Amino acid sequence: MQIDSLPIIASLTELGAELRPRSSLAELTSLGIGGVTDRILIRRYESLPEIVRLLDGAAIPHRLLGGGTNLLVADGELSWIVLQLPPAHPGMRIEGNFAQVDAAADLGGMVTFCARHDLGGLEGLIGVPGTVGGALRMNAGAYGTQIGSYVRAVQLYRRASRQIETFQGNDINFEYRHSSFAPDDVMLRATLELPSRPYREIIAAIRVCNEKRRASQPLSQKSAGCIFKNPPGGSAGRMLDELGLKGFHVGDATVSQRHANFFVNAGNASCVDMLALIETVRERVLHSYGVQLENEVILWQN
Ligand code: EPU
Repeated sequence: MQIDSLPIIASLTELGAELRPRSSLAELTSLGIGGVTDRILIRRYESLPEIVRLLDGAAIPHRLLGGGTNLLVADGELSWIVLQLPPAHPGMRIEGNFAQVDAAADLGGMVTFCARHDLGGLEGLIGVPGTVGGALRMNAGAYGTQIGSYVRAVQLYRRASRQIETFQGNDINFEYRHSSFAPDDVMLRATLELPSRPYREIIAAIRVCNEKRRASQPLSQKSAGCIFKNPPGGSAGRMLDELGLKGFHVGDATVSQRHANFFVNAGNASCVDMLALIETVRERVLHSYGVQLENEVILWQN
C-alpha cells in the first residue's frame, strides 16, 4: 500500500515520523518472506496516538512491526502500511533491582545490559531473537524462563481507548506463549524486577543456554523460531521428527533438519509455500496423533 496524499505525508513529517516508501517485509523479517508496503518510522513514541488518529482519519490500515522474528507475512503488494518504533540507545536503565526498558530494545541486548548490572533471571532468553515488545506480547520463553514472571509494569498505546496507558504486573495475565494484551495494543516500555546475581554467574548460565541452542536449533538459517506451540504435555518438534518430516518441503519452505519445529526459508520461499507446508504438516499430525497443533508464528495476511 502506498501513502500518496501529500497533506498526510506533510503531517507525518511534522509529527517527527519518517516515511520509508516501498519497504520489503522480506528484508525486515527473520524468515525473509513478505511483500512490499510503505513504512513509517516513529522516532518519538509520544506522537503515536496522533499518527494513528491521522491514519484512521484517512482510512489507511496499519500494523505495528517489532523485530519481525516471529512473523509470516503475505507475498506481493500488502494492503496495509507498517509502523515501526526504532530503538533508542541504550533504551534501558536500571534502578536497584528494577530495569526500565523500551519495547523497541533488542531482547538479547536487555539480557546482557541487566547482567552487567548484576541482575539475572533472564539468562534463558539470551538467544531468543526479537524486541522486548514482541517478547512481552508473546510471553517469550526458553529454558525454563519466561519474561512475564519478571514484568512489574507495562506502558502501552491502547487502540480501544486511543491513549497511552500503564498496566501493573498484577493486572496482566501471562500464559504459555500468550499474554492478556489486546492484539492491537502497542507495547512502549516495561519495568522488570530482577533478582541480584553476580555478573560472572549470569554469563556462565548464558553460555550454557547458547550451547544448548546452537546444538539443537538451526540458528544460521532464516526462520521464525518454532512454528507451532507445543501441545499440552507434548512436543511439536518431537512429533514432527517421529513422522519423518525433517527435510520435507514445499518449494523452498523446508522443515529444518536440526529441529523439526523450525521451518526454514532455504532460498526463495514464498508465504504461499510456507502456509502450504504448515497446513500439510498440521494435517499429518492431526491424522497420526489426533492433535491439532496451534501456530506459534504470527500470520499477517492481506
Ligand atoms: N525433539 C526431537 N526432534 C526435533 C526437535 C525436538 O526429538 O527435531 C525433542 C527433543 O529431543 C526434546 C523435545 O523434543 O526431547 C523438546 O525439544 P526442545 O528441547 O528443543 O524444546 P522444544 O519444546 O521443541 C521449546 C520452545 C523453544 C525454546 C526451547 C528451549 C516452544 C514451541 N518452543 O522448544 O522456543 O527455544 O523450548 O527452551 O515452546 C520459539 O518459541 O520459537 C522457540 C524456538
